[in-house]
Amino acid sequence: MSGNTGGELDFSIETLGPARHASPMALGSQPGDGIVDFVDDGQRILFDLDLATIREELTAGHEPAALELAGPRSRLHFRPSEVRAAIVTTGGLCPGINDVVRSIVLTLNWHYGVREIVGIRYGLRGFVEPHPPPRPLKPEDVRSVHREGGSFLGSSRGGPTAKEIVDFLDREAIATLFMIGGDGTMKAALAISEEISRRGLAIAVVGVPKTIDNDIPFVDATFGMITAVSLARQAVDAAHAEAQGALNGVGLVRLMGRESGFIAAQSALASGEANFVLIPEVPFDLDGPHGFLACLHRRLVSRHHAVVVVAEGAGQHYLDEDGSRGCDASGNPVLGDIGRYLRGRIVAHFAEHGVPVTVKYIDPSYMIRSAPPTASDAIYCQQLGQNAVHAAMAGKTALMVGRVHGQQVHVPIRAVANRRRKLDPEHPLWRSVLQSTGQPVRMINEDPAGPAVTPHP
Ligand code: F6P
Repeated sequence: MSGNTGGELDFSIETLGPARHASPMALGSQPGDGIVDFVDDGQRILFDLDLATIREELTAGHEPAALELAGPRSRLHFRPSEVRAAIVTTGGLCPGINDVVRSIVLTLNWHYGVREIVGIRYGLRGFVEPHPPPRPLKPEDVRSVHREGGSFLGSSRGGPTAKEIVDFLDREAIATLFMIGGDGTMKAALAISEEISRRGLAIAVVGVPKTIDNDIPFVDATFGMITAVSLARQAVDAAHAEAQGALNGVGLVRLMGRESGFIAAQSALASGEANFVLIPEVPFDLDGPHGFLACLHRRLVSRHHAVVVVAEGAGQHYLDEDGSRGCDASGNPVLGDIGRYLRGRIVAHFAEHGVPVTVKYIDPSYMIRSAPPTASDAIYCQQLGQNAVHAAMAGKTALMVGRVHGQQVHVPIRAVANRRRKLDPEHPLWRSVLQSTGQPVRMINEDPAGPAVTPHP
């Protein structure tokens, strides 16, 4: 997947101290004996797979950046019977949140014998607000939560300071904190783990990468993204049917993706029916001979229907006349509605040119993130939950679990917290989108690379 760059990366994982206790899990240590083995801290995979880069690193006498494999350790930092665990879900909804919580609870309980688990209610604010209080979680409480979308614990944006949260963790003798969230949550997780180490406490903080936007760096994908894409694809297919059903029909779909266009790009690819994909990472002009409206015009003249997919963060400069929308509680700028704006501009453009068009606008935004996960996300969520627990019980902290090159690994939160992953317009993913849609590589008038060319209508 695109947008991941390494370079001078330190993927070392912090630990709370020695691992003095034997794991209660009955796993092996001898490869080839037919018994699945514990994972050793020395088992690591390369982050950058480019052969030339690896050669350069080795020639310069550097060890290439590598990530520790996730999984159960034979020695634990915590004595399981003494562990109290807390789980919190934060930010916007995402398919698979309940699956991750369930997996954490079941792994703690059945594989380590941890009985004291609490779910924090409605995001980080649940650490300080007494109503509703944290909810004790037993296996029977999570038995079927994965069959539903949403977060049964509740979620929210923003919240108290790291100091207030650590006051809670200390007072409640929490040993392991699991934080399921996006980029804002990873920043909070970093601040909390720094506050914990300032106070000399032994509390493991483990993050799980949740967001349909897929904007967390290093991991192959965040959980929930592919489910969101599967649902968004239905909207693109519907837009295509509507567009084909009318002479000069335009199906316009707006999808989530604040700063990263992964959902728009991938649902367009999955559908195969989109003719234009507009994302925040690729600038475009609306007007002028090489702008989007002229390209759409040419398409309608030749094919009499078109499907346009726009990510919510695309073309914001057309809307942000006075920049006064402010930020949400997570600190994200509140965006203008590019979908409605485009619809208006498309209708006005064709009216001006005397071309009758029918525009059908579809905005499935919240529908694609409130559903339960597809099978592949459900599998991913199960494994993330299991590995989050294994890491915490071994005393590893300030880390996020995730899949990199198909393997579950530990990523230090300090490497993740202040980076946002974006779709690289030079990545093969975007090339596939361009090939699938047939849209020009650039829809810009003053282009230093020369005028944009429409490969096919
Ligand atoms: O969590 C990411 C996201 O899905 C963004 O794409 C979108 O801008 C945002 O959530 C909207 O969430 P809410 O309306 O809940 O703040």
